[in-house]
Amino acid sequence: MGRNQRWSPASWRARPAEQQPDWPDQESVEGALAELRALPPLVFAGESRQLGAALAEVAAGDAFLLHVGDCAESFRDLSAPRIRDNLKIMLQMATVLTYGAALPVVKLGRVAGQFAKPRSSPTERVGDQELPSFRGHMVNDDLPEAGARVADPSRLLQAYHQSAARLNLLRAFTKGGFADLTQVHLWNQEFVAHSSEGRHYEAIARGIDDALRFMAACGIDLEREHQLHEVDLWTSHEGLILPYEECLTRRDSLTGDWYDCSAHLLWIGNRTRSPEGAHVEFFSGVRNPLACKLGPEATPEEVVALCGRLDPDRDAGRLTLIARLGADRVESLLPPLVRGVRDSGHPVVWACDPMHGNGLLTPDGVKTRRFDDIMRELRSFFDVCRAEGVWPGGVHLEFTGDDVTECVGGAEPVSEGDLGIHYSTLCDPRLNARQSLDVAFQVAELLRPKRARK
Ligand code: PEP
Ligand code: CO
Repeated sequence: MGRNQRWSPASWRARPAEQQPDWPDQESVEGALAELRALPPLVFAGESRQLGAALAEVAAGDAFLLHVGDCAESFRDLSAPRIRDNLKIMLQMATVLTYGAALPVVKLGRVAGQFAKPRSSPTERVGDQELPSFRGHMVNDDLPEAGARVADPSRLLQAYHQSAARLNLLRAFTKGGFADLTQVHLWNQEFVAHSSEGRHYEAIARGIDDALRFMAACGIDLEREHQLHEVDLWTSHEGLILPYEECLTRRDSLTGDWYDCSAHLLWIGNRTRSPEGAHVEFFSGVRNPLACKLGPEATPEEVVALCGRLDPDRDAGRLTLIARLGADRVESLLPPLVRGVRDSGHPVVWACDPMHGNGLLTPDGVKTRRFDDIMRELRSFFDVCRAEGVWPGGVHLEFTGDDVTECVGGAEPVSEGDLGIHYSTLCDPRLNARQSLDVAFQVAELLRPKRARK
């Protein structure tokens, strides 16, 4: 099939683009885009290649992908504690998985750019008003007023600057000592430490302390082992607003290839993955590792066509397929997709998003998800992958380091009546820190059989 010779960063413009905002004034959009084009890239192409190499290890069954973060980041919350607390729970989950499953874990955040949301309907009901839908802070504001919902192009620039500030702090934390393995106890936030999950985590942290002391006693110079002192945290977001992604797409001076330098990995959402559509056209031409969400309507033919468009060279690590089929349907819907892709020879990473197929509304109209459904979808995903002989490569979750009550259930269960206590998501309900840790422990258990066989 080969690469598309007619591709350019703007070639998507000739195709139908779903989910694009209705900007009220084209002139100010052009002004914002011109400014974006002149700004430096947020990530370096060489970093995206390193992530691609790490994902190739996942595709080969030698590592696991942890892809987690907010449903939608908020312009209003750019505080250091918030960024740090989300990083803490991610590091805790990665520790649990690495320790429990004895596998390298690729840490990929929905972070530093996750500001645009696809919506099922152009309007939404808030109280007794019918308003234009909130589309993420890159586009409009979530406040429940018609004026706030007007798309504002200056937000494209704000998204860039917010991403830069977040990425800067994350780089500082992950390379500057905060992610050092000797800090493993510090990542346990107080409200987590007192829960059963937090105590279980402490036991692992003590095991890591013992292992480090043992290695030091054996004469290993731990100071020199940089893997113990810093982590690679990669960024990603849904590549939804194509003019923004186009303006941050630059030719790599080392290879001459095009990279979308707004994040290390971009994913295509379930609503914008038509193989003939603008999003697939755009991402087919950039060399970043990519992901694509697959909802229950996805057919094997469509998914194989997507693989052909996005991974024509059959590169391991290039494409991650994230199934989000729902706990009740994954067992029937996933096997034909896995078989189709396997037989087509594309060495993809298979990951499971157990969040987006399991949304429900309480009788009071509050959006939530059940912890048990999330775990049920994950378990079925592992079963199907094993039965089909493919590696269950990763999990994709919406979480927050805060003590929110947005998803019901868990070890110290959140009940439907608790949803009003601390419900702060801008869009979909997220796992709180304790529930996230619980998922990590259970996934580590699901991963064990593979290690035992090896
Ligand atoms: C999301 O990940 O927030 C999302 C909207 O997912 P999907 O495209 O799978 O619906
Ligand atoms: Co979401």
